[in-house]
Amino acid sequence: MSIIEPNSLLSVPTGQLQISELSLTTEGAGGEPIHFSLVIPTYKEAANIKKIVEILSGLLDEANSGNYELIVVDDNSPDGTWEIAQSLMPEYPQLRVMRRQQERGLSSAVIRGWQVARGSVLGVIDGDLQHPPHVLLQLLHAIDEGADLAVASRHLEDGGVSSWSFIRRFLSRGAQLLGLIILPRVLGRVSDPMSGYFLLRRSAIVGATLNPVGYKILLEVIGRGNMGKIAEVGYVFSERQEGESKVTWKQYVDYVRHLIRLRVSTGRLKGLSQSMTGFPIGRFIRFGVVGLSGVFVDMVILYLLHDPTTLGLPLTRSKIISGEIAILNNFFWNDSWTFADVSMQQQKWRQRLKRFLKFNIICLVGLVLNVLILNLVYNFIIPNAYIANLIAIAAATVWNFWVNLKLSWRVTQVK
Ligand code: GDD
Ligand code: MN
Repeated sequence: MSIIEPNSLLSVPTGQLQISELSLTTEGAGGEPIHFSLVIPTYKEAANIKKIVEILSGLLDEANSGNYELIVVDDNSPDGTWEIAQSLMPEYPQLRVMRRQQERGLSSAVIRGWQVARGSVLGVIDGDLQHPPHVLLQLLHAIDEGADLAVASRHLEDGGVSSWSFIRRFLSRGAQLLGLIILPRVLGRVSDPMSGYFLLRRSAIVGATLNPVGYKILLEVIGRGNMGKIAEVGYVFSERQEGESKVTWKQYVDYVRHLIRLRVSTGRLKGLSQSMTGFPIGRFIRFGVVGLSGVFVDMVILYLLHDPTTLGLPLTRSKIISGEIAILNNFFWNDSWTFADVSMQQQKWRQRLKRFLKFNIICLVGLVLNVLILNLVYNFIIPNAYIANLIAIAAATVWNFWVNLKLSWRVTQVK
């Protein structure tokens, strides 16, 4: 076994981004295998690094009594983050530091860190204290209880974002929706696929060649790894106190590239058959029955408002009212029947209202989709308005169901 000089930097692995089986002879390991390795990727975090190392060490010393390591992976920050980290090593024996000069980027930094890790559990946390450290213990606990992957999520009961602008929330949700459409099998598995705060069992990604672009490494891990049980823990994404975010428009473009790449390389057939076996057929049928009841409600109200023998209101006005009442009707039945198991756990009226607003928006998008597909099918495929309409309704129903399942009545494996 090689003797490691005190306070020396880790050498940077080269070659493919692949995590190997845990072995005692791994170069640079220099010691016993340990339980938990936490990677802290940094770029220009000079103002945060000391504090986060101090907090994490305190937390893990207490819970894990030395059976862990912290691995800072810094991309040669001009503010000397790596140097500061290195100077902390005498005080924190569990701390290891890597300085990368050839490669750059958040995702690859995390993987390079995991490649030198000695733990059977691997993790990642931001270096800017926006991820609350105490959540780490809950995540570790979830893994110890048998999960292959434990994700800190902003979209659970105890989760959230502290003070994001409307536009940032909107972009974040839009990105998630796009991902759900392109890669439902991956993004559908967690409530916060954009999370950069998670732990996983090494065995769940051993051998997979990871190849992420941009920021969203969790997608890569779920897409290419072999994740059985997934657990989630809610957390609040707090404000940055020091330094600044490195997110630019490029990250949004990278994200879309990443989705498409994963979609193509993980194969069509596999994706289809897997998503079919997991398809909640009973729920879908109930959703369809509720949808039919909505059609009936819509018709009756339209009649009552518009018919010359009744109120005789103008058609558009009548239809807007009848359509909205139908949506209300559908929401009521879906909430108390189709998704009763989910809504029972979230009964506060604010939560109900939130579900209703989401349901409403999603159904409105469904309506636009309905009209678009009707036109497309009618003009280019089957020139019969009623058959075309049936196809459009079927497509919109699948959309309404799937997106509501994932966003309004979120079914997660969380207790
Ligand atoms: N080594 C390395 N190289 N680290 C980087 C790089 C890089 O190119 N770019 C960013 N980092 C580090 C930052 O120093 C920080 O510790 C962490 O990665 C997150 O970067 P931020 O720029 O602070 O990202 P954010 O706060 O906007 O986004 C975070 O929240 C997202 C959830 O919306 C990140 O945690 C994302 O991973 C997460 O998805
Ligand atoms: Mn940040």
